[in-house]
Amino acid sequence: MKLFLDTADIEEIRTVAAWGVLDGVTTNPTLYSKVGGASYDAILQEICKIVPGPVSAEVVADDVEGMLKEGRHFAKLADNIVVKVPMSETGLEAMSRFRAEGIKTNCTLIFTANQGLLAAKAGASLLSPFVGRLDDINEEGMTVIRELSEIIRFFEYDSEVLSASIRHPRHVTESALAGAHIATLPFKVFQQMVRHPLTDKGIVQFKKDWEDARAALAARKGD
Ligand code: E4P
Repeated sequence: MKLFLDTADIEEIRTVAAWGVLDGVTTNPTLYSKVGGASYDAILQEICKIVPGPVSAEVVADDVEGMLKEGRHFAKLADNIVVKVPMSETGLEAMSRFRAEGIKTNCTLIFTANQGLLAAKAGASLLSPFVGRLDDINEEGMTVIRELSEIIRFFEYDSEVLSASIRHPRHVTESALAGAHIATLPFKVFQQMVRHPLTDKGIVQFKKDWEDARAALAARKGD
């Protein structure tokens, strides 16, 4: 399973890239607004230098021509840019035109398997159902991941299911078991995946036992 970072924060991206586990990055206008300090273009170019995998850049226009203009601009910033387009009638038309131009897209704001099926047919390479936002309104986000993953594999579409709006580590495990090809995670969830209290306790104990053993050996040599 591929793991992406859901952030526009360069330091977070450098950190997880250094762990050797980072396959791509997703950004959106909200994530960009949290970092600021440089233009969206400049941040995207910096991210693309760190991460060779897909880096999603989101359009904000709501008409087809506007989406095409923004997406073509992003696609010129780096070879690994994927244009993020919201699910809508205009979004579907834009994704289908991007496909004809050879520009990869990530269909965002998917909340049903049917929306994902439409995006796959329109040629989106990534399909992003939002698990956490569905859970937030008392629906079962993981059901969409399971249904859509099954449809994509059954009909052998080229698209990949990207589990988005991940809130905690269990969402990652459940996305993998439900068949998602990718999950995009906030930095905090990456950190939570690393940690376990028994791992921390074990590291402290091994260090202490090692030091005790060396001290005992040194004492014996000094006899
Ligand atoms: C990723 O592509 C999405 O934009 C992101 O996961 C949304 O997450 P949120 O629901 O926490 O804003």
